[in-house]
Amino acid sequence: MADRPLGFFEGTEMPTAGWWEALWPDPAGVLASVGLKPGMDVIDLCSGDGWFTLQIAKIARHVAAIDIDASLLEVARHRLAEGGATNCAFVAGDAYELARLWLYHVDLVFLANAFHGVPDRPRLARSVAQVLKPSGRFAIVNWYPRPREETTVLGEPRGPRTDLRLSPEQTIEAVEAGGLTLKEIVDLPPYHYGAVFERT
Ligand SMILES: C[S@@+](CC[C@H](N)C(=O)[O-])C[C@H]1O[C@@H](n2cnc3c(N)ncnc32)[C@H](O)[C@@H]1O
Repeated sequence: MADRPLGFFEGTEMPTAGWWEALWPDPAGVLASVGLKPGMDVIDLCSGDGWFTLQIAKIARHVAAIDIDASLLEVARHRLAEGGATNCAFVAGDAYELARLWLYHVDLVFLANAFHGVPDRPRLARSVAQVLKPSGRFAIVNWYPRPREETTVLGEPRGPRTDLRLSPEQTIEAVEAGGLTLKEIVDLPPYHYGAVFERT
């Protein structure tokens, strides 16, 4: 396995190309389900290769893509340039350091497919709370805690190890311990849910 940057969250490697697009054919629909609205300022935290970032850029006023892996940010940068997006910033760094990486308050922090690997989840929630506007939201997209062999895409088991997966209740407990308040849980078939929190 290639070396991972220091601080890399466990089980959050960007998937090999092909099946991610099959699993997420409608990223804009996912984003609408967790509350993305036109005119918002957004952070796509742990943004990977920008599959969701591009759709955020098409709707939001501005999006900051933040990831610890600078090479993935380059892939995202190309994806957004090809998509004609000009309202995006790209920042390399550790999600725990969010408030130092992005100095502006935002309406929404979107975090997909990474929360399961965060060692200190209340700490991450506190970091997110620091960059949210009053009533700003933190939307987490997680795999349901189903056995990995059941979550097949293109004929193969996919996603993080079974033991890393979090229930909605575990996610709520961790994020509320970091000072944010649950607004809603939404189902994101076939294998995910969204947990949306608010800075109150
Ligand atoms: C499974 S990928 C998901 C990418 C994107 N959110 C998506 O759903 O398409 C998880 C991402 O988290 C990033 N990551 C892992 N540890 C991180 C950390 N400590 N801070 C910021 N990003 C991190 C990885 O580099 C990877 O791009």
